[in-house]
Amino acid sequence: MTSVLLATFDLMPDGEPGAAALTAALDARGIDSRWVCWDDPAVDWAGADLVAIRSTWDYHRRLPAFLDWARAVEASTTLLNGAGVVAWNADKAYLAEIADVVPVVPTALLDDADLAAGLAAALDRWGSVVVKPRTGAGGIGVVVVERLDDPRLEGLVAGPWIAQPLVDSIRTTGESSVYVFDGVAASQVDKTVAAGEIRAHELHGGSNTAAALDPERSAVATAAVRTVAERRGADLAYARVDLLRWQDSWVVSELELIEPGLYLDVDPANGERFAALVAGRLGRS
Ligand SMILES: Nc1ncnc2c1ncn2[C@@H]1O[C@H](COP(=O)(O)OP(=O)(O)O)[C@@H](O)[C@H]1O
Ligand SMILES: [Mg+2]
Repeated sequence: MTSVLLATFDLMPDGEPGAAALTAALDARGIDSRWVCWDDPAVDWAGADLVAIRSTWDYHRRLPAFLDWARAVEASTTLLNGAGVVAWNADKAYLAEIADVVPVVPTALLDDADLAAGLAAALDRWGSVVVKPRTGAGGIGVVVVERLDDPRLEGLVAGPWIAQPLVDSIRTTGESSVYVFDGVAASQVDKTVAAGEIRAHELHGGSNTAAALDPERSAVATAAVRTVAERRGADLAYARVDLLRWQDSWVVSELELIEPGLYLDVDPANGERFAALVAGRLGRS
């Protein structure tokens, strides 16, 4: 039987929320799958026909080990999206790199060497500024600052960081995630934030709803994925493109090419869509 390993992490050994929707969809296609922790030394990666990174939501804390693992897996079997894409996508500096051709939230790079000067420039340019770590997930380390002596800077996590304008529409319109599987927009989840919050994650009171694909958001998402695939010479099997409404347009706030949650709990059909992608990659569609 064809076997697929779905990589997760040790605080979520049974996989992402709603995981059964994915394993059942794979099963229905005759594909045997198993959730395994990426850092479990007992796992036989080479014995699998394909490995899909799914809910490895500690990677940002352990990046060098995670990248070593991804390279080792890729050397022994098929790793969807590939280790090179994982390394590139782990650093939000990619937003500045693609800004010449992809509409993105304006992004400046900040590091310890010139943090005050970089922040002062960002504050001059944008007024309210979001600072977040270049390698991060789950909204960890996201702060909004309005002045250089803003007390919220005391809680700054380790750098380097990116700085962006505060996109106010996060509080009203929210954020959208468009899934792009094999280059085609497949589904959309819309996310809203809790009162007084800007972070869309459930952990911070955000809520998610399955939505019909919006043509404008789909076009931006697929163009972004195509650009990255071409520029990086990468085979992008899956992507989640997170979008914010900025100056009357939808722009990319994040490209999730490593471990985008599929929101299977609110859109179980994403399990079927991901299973179809995997089947295609295994030559079984
Ligand atoms: N520039 C911004 N303006 C408004 N909200 C933002 C901005 N950047 C991030 N956010 C909010 O913070 C959340 C986390 O930021 P994000 O860039 O998605 O990082 P990650 O999900 O990797 O932690 C977003 O989902 C969004 O709700
Ligand atoms: Mg995000």
